[in-house]
Amino acid sequence: MKAAQLRVLGVESSCDETAAAVVADGREILSSVIASQVDLHAQFGGVYPEIASREHVKAVYATVNEALQQAHLELSDLDGIAVTRGPGLAGSLVVGANMAKALAMAADKPIVGVNHLEGHIYSSWLYASGSAPTPEPKFPLVALLVSGGHTELILMREHLAYQRLGGTVDDAAGEAFDKVARLLELPYPGGPSIQKAAQDGNPRAFNFPKARLSEPFNFSFSGVKTAVLRTVQDLRAQGKSLPTADLAASFQAAVVSALYEKTISAAQEFDAKEIIVAGGVSANKALREAFRAQTHFKVHIPHISLCTDNAAMIAAAGYQHLARGEQDALDFDVLPTWYLTPAA
Ligand SMILES: Nc1ncnc2c1ncn2[C@@H]1O[C@H](COP(=O)(O)OP(=O)(O)OP(=O)(O)O)[C@@H](O)[C@H]1O
Ligand SMILES: [Mg+2]
Repeated sequence: MKAAQLRVLGVESSCDETAAAVVADGREILSSVIASQVDLHAQFGGVYPEIASREHVKAVYATVNEALQQAHLELSDLDGIAVTRGPGLAGSLVVGANMAKALAMAADKPIVGVNHLEGHIYSSWLYASGSAPTPEPKFPLVALLVSGGHTELILMREHLAYQRLGGTVDDAAGEAFDKVARLLELPYPGGPSIQKAAQDGNPRAFNFPKARLSEPFNFSFSGVKTAVLRTVQDLRAQGKSLPTADLAASFQAAVVSALYEKTISAAQEFDAKEIIVAGGVSANKALREAFRAQTHFKVHIPHISLCTDNAAMIAAAGYQHLARGEQDALDFDVLPTWYLTPAA
């Protein structure tokens, strides 16, 4: 079979989303199904690991079945299976890995364990079946990976080759959104709530400080988070009501400008042709607008539906490995901690 016809089933269960998808050629989404547990975890204000793994157990079979059905394919039609091997919650990862292994064994298909962050990066290669293919990212490129657990600047000179330029020294950007949302008593998950609240706010109402770091491509978000906390405490001590929209807009603006400016300067420094912005926070409207407003670099930002966890991105990354003949033995373990770049 030609490489251009490779159809890969992706399975993702690293956190609180059970997802399965079929992707052709590492780019065309034939199906993408996500069973989200977000409502279940909202009552805890975060993901509750044991509940997450047990929900995956309940959802994974139906999710995979649905993905195959929507793609009008049988297991035997697939060319390979890709599953998130890490990083993530061990008990959650195991559920997807075991499902994928069982499918690979039953259908005698190659299987590859994929790094979840590699998946986020490869979401930029995806497009929906039936719509025109989006332009394929070109190397060298700088990838800004901004998610719930990670904030990394990565240089890619070719497929599957990652050089870490910098990253957060404390909180991930998504984590900062989530923590500040909690401070402002906005609902979980925090990123979308802050974005919504910020719509009616003035991004210049509060001047939250920018972190000064010795490494040019590192980030720090704990300072801005603490600045929001102090402002909230001061306002409360004075008996004033919180200007939530202004606080959200000013916080969002501070985070977006740090992410934007460092990514652009990294792309300039390393002569990148293009930029990828990926991970949950890349769904943020202000961040997307900041990158789209400049014309110096071609910027790839996944469709909103592909920014947060999904299995199409795992299939897209898995395709790159499988197309090179890489695969894993059926006894591979999950890797709850797994750095994409050795220097991380
Ligand atoms: N519109 C938005 N604006 C800002 N942040 C957002 C938005 N939508 C989602 N997020 C944030 O994205 C994060 C979730 O992204 P994602 O699902 O990629 O993270 P994760 O899988 O938990 O972490 P990781 O990928 O690092 O393992 C959350 O922190 C959420 O608040
Ligand atoms: Mg993720």
